[in-house]
Amino acid sequence: MSRPWPLAFLALSLACSSPPPASPPARLRFVRDSVEVKTLDRDALLRASPPVLVQGYDPYYGKEKRFRALPLRPLIVAAFGEARDDLHYVLRAQDGYTVPLPGKRLLEEGAHLAVEDMEVPGWQPIGPQQANPGPFYLVWSKPHQRELESHPRPWQLASVEIAAFEAVFPATDPGKEAPEGARRGYATYRELCVRCHAINRQGGRVGPELNVPQSIVEYRPAAQIKAYIRNPLQFRYGNMPPHPGLSEGDLDDLLSYFQTMSGRKQDPEAKR
Ligand code: HEC
Repeated sequence: MSRPWPLAFLALSLACSSPPPASPPARLRFVRDSVEVKTLDRDALLRASPPVLVQGYDPYYGKEKRFRALPLRPLIVAAFGEARDDLHYVLRAQDGYTVPLPGKRLLEEGAHLAVEDMEVPGWQPIGPQQANPGPFYLVWSKPHQRELESHPRPWQLASVEIAAFEAVFPATDPGKEAPEGARRGYATYRELCVRCHAINRQGGRVGPELNVPQSIVEYRPAAQIKAYIRNPLQFRYGNMPPHPGLSEGDLDDLLSYFQTMSGRKQDPEAKR
């Protein structure tokens, strides 16, 4: 009487349990104008750029950290055959974080690809979701490269692409005839927001899309949006960082940009 039950239970629990989440592959893709030019695994990356110790303050951890890390420039050369700081790059993480960076910034001395946390085997969890930053975490070694806004640190880096911003995110452009404030707001959005937010389905996927199907300005009052951008944590304990550095004028320009884009919706999903 008692035997069949555990067997049946085992079968049932096997059928119901979902597979464990796959750990991200330790490979980095290199893409040029939408074409994959190379994929390097961890060993190939280590050969291309011998590891060094990077030690310093890490703004995500809020303390000193030590990483085994590969200087970035030789990796870019190994992948693309050249490292030109007049080109533009787009870094993409596994979670949808998407950072456009000019070559002049990405190729600064000090940019490194961390491949190992020297203090915590298997990486110390990072960020609001306590994610594993591995296998590849972009870090900067110089004291003046601490600010995340100017020197972003994507974790779980999945790909590095050479592409002009206009080519990757054309649907985010408010157009040449847009008011000057909207153009300025667009510049701010490109610098600080596109890494987490999409407009017309183009951009990061960490935060909500801000233009379709409804624009943020269609369902939130302007004053609330501005207050939210400046300090999201006063509304909810979410995953958006505060932006205390944005002036009232910067916020008005962002609103003007969102307003303009609400009249320029493109939503490929909507047709389905
Ligand atoms: C690191 C990622 C990240 C960055 C950078 C970021 N956001 Fe967010 N944002 C989020 C997330 C995640 C949410 C969802 C709510 C939350 O977790 O706080 C959000 C929510 C919002 C909302 C509220 C949407 C709603 O109605 O609830 C607005 C508006 C917004 N962001 C605008 C911006 C603007 C403008 C910028 C650039 C100045 C920006 N965000 C930069 C991640 C980010």
